[in-house]
Amino acid sequence: MKRVGLLVGKEHSFPEALIAEITLREMPVEAQMVKLGGLPMNASVHYDVLVDRISHEVPFYQSYLKNAVLQGVTVINNPFWRIVDDKFFGTALGAKLGVAMPKTILLPNKDYIEGVVEESLRNLQYPIDWEAFLDYTGLPVVLKAHWGGGWKDVHIIHSKTELWERYNQIGTKTMILQEYIEWDQYVRCLVIGQEDVLPVLWDPRKPHFERYEESQPPLDPALKATIIDHAQRLCRGLGYDMNTVEFAVRDGVPIAIDFMNSAPDFDVSSLGDHYFSWVVEKMATLCIRLAVESHPAAPTTWPAFFDPQ
Ligand SMILES: Nc1ncnc2c1ncn2[C@@H]1O[C@H](COP(=O)(O)OP(=O)(O)O)[C@@H](O)[C@H]1O
Ligand SMILES: [Mg+2]
Repeated sequence: MKRVGLLVGKEHSFPEALIAEITLREMPVEAQMVKLGGLPMNASVHYDVLVDRISHEVPFYQSYLKNAVLQGVTVINNPFWRIVDDKFFGTALGAKLGVAMPKTILLPNKDYIEGVVEESLRNLQYPIDWEAFLDYTGLPVVLKAHWGGGWKDVHIIHSKTELWERYNQIGTKTMILQEYIEWDQYVRCLVIGQEDVLPVLWDPRKPHFERYEESQPPLDPALKATIIDHAQRLCRGLGYDMNTVEFAVRDGVPIAIDFMNSAPDFDVSSLGDHYFSWVVEKMATLCIRLAVESHPAAPTTWPAFFDPQ
């Protein structure tokens, strides 16, 4: 019997539904919640596939998952990649893959951890040339954390004064400055296994639990095909098997906004029954396939994304 294990946080609908769906398929694969205590070095892992929904908040799990890969387990999503990616690198990678990106600038930190003094920062140039940055991005501009989720530390800025004020309150977070995309349509894609893409019109202006309610005109078929292709390119480039990818559509061009959701919100209350069922079904199929195939990538493999030639 092959085994799929789930590491989860406080969410309650997706994990239970995934376990139920895998069980229902009557394949030689069982699914269950992982239980962990302390671990010896090279501890053997009793799973073929692990689904990680929470290691970004529980660092102990990150080490467990990396050890699991070393023991031959397939982990969704790749635990080596998941903790090193960032939104600045992502925009550069996406642009190389032929996906339109908002103009983006990486900012030096405002503050540092205790013990970092002026002398520690001799490689940094001051003052920051805010004028040049804003000439590049234009206004309004988005100031957001270079890593993170849940709309924390995402600020839409309308003037240079407002930008300084915000930046001065940012503390030790590394931030990016990003062109604000004024969109006609906004699309969120559920992407499973770097292959299955379900593009959904999604309205970020609405309250959290109403965003999947469609209130925009339907997607043009050619645009939809491009969005599916670009969502696949991004997920293959990043090596994510479980992701959501957002595009703001401006003048018919899909511009990728957020595509690094390695533990996306799959709660039934956010997705609604229809999209929730789709995600559970695709995830069950993926987990079963990977468990049965059981030939994980080597732990140090960089996701294959583009030919540097
Ligand atoms: N460059 C941008 N242009 C327009 N809207 C943006 C831009 N960046 C972020 N947003 C809006 O802010 C929301 C949150 O930003 P996002 O990058 O998704 O942060 P998080 O990773 O915290 O979810 C997005 O869903 C989108 O509605
Ligand atoms: Mg987001």
